[in-house]
Amino acid sequence: MKVLLLNGSPHPNGCTAAALKEMIRVFEAEGVETELLQVGNRDIRGCIACRSCMKNGKCVFDDLVNEAAPLFEKADGLVIGSPVYYASPNGTILSFMDRLFYSTHFSKHMKVGAAVVSARRGGNTASFDVLNKYFTISGMPVASSTYWNQVHGFTADDVLKDQEGLQTMRNLARNMTFLMKVIADGREKYGLPQMERGAFTSFPDGK
Ligand SMILES: Cc1cc2nc3c(=O)[nH]c(=O)nc-3n(C[C@H](O)[C@H](O)[C@H](O)COP(=O)(O)O)c2cc1C
Repeated sequence: MKVLLLNGSPHPNGCTAAALKEMIRVFEAEGVETELLQVGNRDIRGCIACRSCMKNGKCVFDDLVNEAAPLFEKADGLVIGSPVYYASPNGTILSFMDRLFYSTHFSKHMKVGAAVVSARRGGNTASFDVLNKYFTISGMPVASSTYWNQVHGFTADDVLKDQEGLQTMRNLARNMTFLMKVIADGREKYGLPQMERGAFTSFPDGK
């Protein structure tokens, strides 16, 4: 069982990292393998909608997005961590997520997702909502916790004082582990639910 964690912050040892590390400690105690990718200090450009990924199965920009794709394919769960910038996830993680989800065509169905946000003060739930939408358009169940998945701080030391935030991270990792296990069992016992495809109603004929 494996979880891929993405840190959208430019700070590998900042507030978002402190939250993700709290989760990693629980995953490791539960025997879940983890891989943490540092995304936010990389030069990640946005999607240009060239659709070359439809032919090639990978993004035309050959960077960390294409390196992350096979790790995501193998993972049972994905955690997206982001600092809050002007009440949204930061631009780097949004560019990364748009390109990762759009360019990869393997099934994400029943991989468990969790979004984690870090803010000094505000904009947390709006950012949390944005990140959860990558999961909910992809047939990915969303793990939840005992509060919305957020920590507060301007520095990692602040986050270490946010006892409720850290508790939320630990409970989130436990719930995520449980979901991944029951989904693995359910896949064996019942198979995955059928997913209909094909309807794509953007009304190009204007009717
Ligand atoms: C450009 C920018 C915009 C920010 N906007 C917000 C904001 O809207 N709300 C907030 O509470 N903190 C805001 N912050 C502060 C960070 O989100 C916050 O300190 C976060 O915990 C930093 O996480 P990190 O150490 O993982 O980078 C902003 C920081 C930057 C650099």
